[in-house]
Amino acid sequence: MQEMPKKIKIYSIVLFVNALALLAYLIFSARSLSWKHVLFFGLLVWLAESLGIDLPKVGAVSVSFAIIFAVIILFNPITAVLVSLFTTVVWRDIKERSSIYKWIINGSTAVIETGIASLVYYHSGGFSLLTRGGLTYSDFPSILIPLVLCAAIYFLFNSLLISIAISFFENISPINIWFFDCKWAIPNYFALAPLGVIFAQVYTITDVPGIILIIIPLLVAREAFKVYMRLRGAYTDTVKSLVTAIEAKDAYTRGHSERVAKYSEMIARQMKLSEDKVELIKYAALLHDVGKIGVAKKILSKPSQLSEDEYRKVQEHPDLGASILKDVEFLKDVMPAIQYHHEHFDGSGYGSGLEGATIPLVARIMTAADAFDAMTSVRPYRDAMTSLDAAKELRACIGAQFDADVVDALVAALDIEEKLRPCFKEEEDTLLMEGQLKIVETEKD
Ligand SMILES: [Fe+2]
Repeated sequence: MQEMPKKIKIYSIVLFVNALALLAYLIFSARSLSWKHVLFFGLLVWLAESLGIDLPKVGAVSVSFAIIFAVIILFNPITAVLVSLFTTVVWRDIKERSSIYKWIINGSTAVIETGIASLVYYHSGGFSLLTRGGLTYSDFPSILIPLVLCAAIYFLFNSLLISIAISFFENISPINIWFFDCKWAIPNYFALAPLGVIFAQVYTITDVPGIILIIIPLLVAREAFKVYMRLRGAYTDTVKSLVTAIEAKDAYTRGHSERVAKYSEMIARQMKLSEDKVELIKYAALLHDVGKIGVAKKILSKPSQLSEDEYRKVQEHPDLGASILKDVEFLKDVMPAIQYHHEHFDGSGYGSGLEGATIPLVARIMTAADAFDAMTSVRPYRDAMTSLDAAKELRACIGAQFDADVVDALVAALDIEEKLRPCFKEEEDTLLMEGQLKIVETEKD
């Protein structure tokens, strides 16, 4: 079991204290409580949560919200909160022997999101469907306001509290986590809420047998989640296969694509780009040299200087890469990065002759990451440069080959700003005296 960072421990204690206070308030203000209902719906929620589907980073998504939503509107806040506590320790956690802090965060989040959503429902005009014998036509449209408010508050608290917890685990901004892992779940929540209402309505009429029938659409919804996640996995596998194909063709690029992806991600995060953009840049960097598949192996692996004709062939690889990917729907957003990754900031690169801000930012990031890795890797004809020397080279070529903001972001991400400052001045003066800024080697340039 991994040791939990201190901020996770503090966060879990803060959540726990708040959850305990809310629970105490709900117990003291409760008018009735049926343990039979708590146990039955609790087991149902536990099952739904145990069948949850993992998200790409941390956490999982399940259809248990529909059941909790039904319990909120069927009974009262305390029943709903006690039922939601069954989501604290699900089957996956037992199997993985998850940390006690994760359980505290899960349990406290469940109490807070369910408790507050229930209170909002009952204080905004909502009523217990079991007491009233279900919804009738005359309850519409006024009942819609408490229902929508309840679902929205539940989602808001759930996504925010979990995003903050994940951000502590992953060291990524909670806003980025929210956009990448939670934003897309909004339509699912609003699809599951009506299902919860149907669930509650059926229960008021048919009791337990009707619920068995409702479970079937819930399982269908689960399958839809699963297919979506599997599709994402298939995209990653496709990208990996293409990377393997590039590396089989060009021995020098072995490991290069992954490293360019790593540096590109560091730059993107330093520039505070959205999580969607960071993900796009990682894919683009992994595939930036995919066009080399169309360049003859004898040219790519030639140990000596390339002839003019051979060099022209190598220069075709950004366009070739773009044409290889142009029909792949899910990769269409990475195409500009691949097509323009050899453009230079002053327009002297190759490809389409773009310059400055007309070169897409993703491509500008990759150009710097590509050059940095080329310089810090061993070549048959020279040793690897140190990060510091490579960063000096990048800085010397700002404005000519690279974008200043991108290079600054890389230097900041590598945490070498301090070491770089004294030597950079000297280097810059020398280059200015020589009256030229050199062009940094990227690959077989
Ligand atoms: Fe390239």
